[in-house]
Amino acid sequence: MTSYKLLMLPGDGIGPEVAREVEKLTTFMTTKGVAKFEIDTDLVGGAAYDAHGVAITDAAMAKAQSADAVLFGAVGGPKWANVPYEHRPEAGLLRLRKEMELFANLRPAVCYPALADASSLKREIIEGLDIMIVRELTGGVYFGEPKEIVTLENGQKRAVDTQVYTTFEIERIARVAFDLAKVRGNKVTSTEKHNVMRSGVLWKQVVSNIHSKEYPEVELDHHLADACGMQLVRWPKQYDVIVCDNLFGDMLSDVAAMLTGSLGMLPSASLGAPNANGKRKALYEPVHGSAPDIAGKGLANPIAMIGSFGMALRYSFGLVQQADMVEKAIANVLAAGLRTKDIATHGQATIATSQMGDAIVAEFGKLI
Ligand code: IPM
Ligand code: MN
Repeated sequence: MTSYKLLMLPGDGIGPEVAREVEKLTTFMTTKGVAKFEIDTDLVGGAAYDAHGVAITDAAMAKAQSADAVLFGAVGGPKWANVPYEHRPEAGLLRLRKEMELFANLRPAVCYPALADASSLKREIIEGLDIMIVRELTGGVYFGEPKEIVTLENGQKRAVDTQVYTTFEIERIARVAFDLAKVRGNKVTSTEKHNVMRSGVLWKQVVSNIHSKEYPEVELDHHLADACGMQLVRWPKQYDVIVCDNLFGDMLSDVAAMLTGSLGMLPSASLGAPNANGKRKALYEPVHGSAPDIAGKGLANPIAMIGSFGMALRYSFGLVQQADMVEKAIANVLAAGLRTKDIATHGQATIATSQMGDAIVAEFGKLI
């Protein structure tokens, strides 16, 4: 049985409790002889800051670099509101993305039929929704220099963030989007703000060039990022793959998440470029944050985290059939009416985080 090296970084808030539910699944899969996982765990975010004074240690970074996949929970919370900016919990996640060169962030937004009523939008708008947001993750305004707050002579302050993209960065994320579209609905929508931003002008040009040179058979559309946000809540099913920069992708993926009923439903994969052996560095994380207000109460929805592990099976371990089974198990428990609080409607009974995890593992067991 092949063994996969998985580094768990549960982090803060609800991170550890949703991560525990994934470990139930890995243990079950190992017991059943489906696959074997060598699991290591380390600290990230506020938890790492409390223990080591940094948002992630060099030792944890080294483990992440050598793992087959990293499974990340969530970071941040009011407890760390006043730590120095460079050590804030989010810095741990950003360091992982940057140093592992995880430039491609895949955020699928799928509306499970059973959850169509949990969305704030009408059923007919979101039923059957299946879109993929491809977010550039190592460039743009998140990392551009200068990035600073300076004090001016008159005592005023001036803050600068820099939005910057090169041809190479746009080309490689565009290829990820087109390759995905080819095995999905064959349509890419590229979003930027070329009407106000130079980086948007280049983005549009480069995506168009890659399209005509390498992917003429895929349908390509360009939407201004603000209009894309509007269309996502007006008629989201017009989209197949949406490709966007780091900041627009952050915003649009939160919007897309809510279409599916809850932020607690959306998984994500952050991938590097494949090496000579076809292997790529990868980190998987739920799109939801640390939700400190509900942490430790058994209220968190573990589905986004379990779905993220499903994406690891698909994109890092080549266990595509098992990945399909994880998705099916999630769909089945939802169809059976099981709900955590965030996805319950009309006074439906709710279950705790651990019960949802148990139910998904049990359902997975029926499918193998
Ligand atoms: C996300 C998060 C992160 C981001 C934060 C935690 C730094 O919101 O993954 O979407 O802004 O990228
Ligand atoms: Mn976000």
